[in-house]
Amino acid sequence: MSKSALVTGASRGIGYETARRFIESVDDITTVIIVARESDAFTQARDELGALAEARGKTLLAHPADVGDLEALRAAIAEIHRTVGNVDILINNAGYTNPVPIHQVEFADFERTMTVNLYAPFTLIQELLHLGNTFELIVNIASTAGITGRSGWLTYSASKAAVINMSQVLREELAIYGTRVVCLSPGRTATALRRVLAPTEDPTTIMQPEHVAQVIEAFASPVGRYIDSENIVVRL
Ligand SMILES: NC(=O)c1ccc[n+]([C@@H]2O[C@H](COP(=O)([O-])OP(=O)(O)OC[C@H]3O[C@@H](n4cnc5c(N)ncnc54)[C@H](OP(=O)(O)O)[C@@H]3O)[C@@H](O)[C@H]2O)c1
Repeated sequence: MSKSALVTGASRGIGYETARRFIESVDDITTVIIVARESDAFTQARDELGALAEARGKTLLAHPADVGDLEALRAAIAEIHRTVGNVDILINNAGYTNPVPIHQVEFADFERTMTVNLYAPFTLIQELLHLGNTFELIVNIASTAGITGRSGWLTYSASKAAVINMSQVLREELAIYGTRVVCLSPGRTATALRRVLAPTEDPTTIMQPEHVAQVIEAFASPVGRYIDSENIVVRL
């Protein structure tokens, strides 16, 4: 069967590696849609993944969008659905953080964190459901910071805790449609986002984005239906 997979935040890091592995290694995913904001990294991802998809006889659709702008996101979802039809696999991966102590938290930034990390995944799922989409698999990327709050990471930790809980609800609520909902919480992974959280850390000593992508790939592969968990922790 030919399936389509949409990956948000696929211009770099875990999202890019996930899109790459879907194209390279998951035979029945024949259309991959990547979403991130316009940037040099997004252009490069579109070029590299486009070439890979072409070589594999697959289709890559690169759709620029700021998932923190929910109106723009709704328009992007409608456009994507018109273009590719049903989205079988959705990887809600785009993430934002600006770690500061509580005294310095600006409410607008808290709202931005909640919008990108929580409301955008919700909006993607709800809008597609409204369009009659049936999902086979939804993977929401949370974080170990959502399981245990960390000092200085209030907004990020709170948003990821909400993603874990939302995923539990979705898992129950969408089961009648045959949709599997997986919440995946990576630990420290060497990406740009991690550099914001831990600027002095040596990235060679922690997990690499391809390691997390391999676990996501397992869920999208036939074996994925046999893996059952509320919140999968992936860490070194
Ligand atoms: N790295 C870690 O240690 C770690 C640990 C636990 C969980 N996670 C989670 O893993 C996910 C992926 O992060 P990563 O570590 O791979 O970070 P990354 O390399 O910085 O990638 C983040 C991706 O999200 C996109 N993005 C951010 N804001 C966006 C927006 N408003 N609209 C559209 N796209 C947006 C970025 O593209 P643009 O900014 O160019 O748009 C980029 O493609 C995130 O949800 C993160 O919270 C990471």
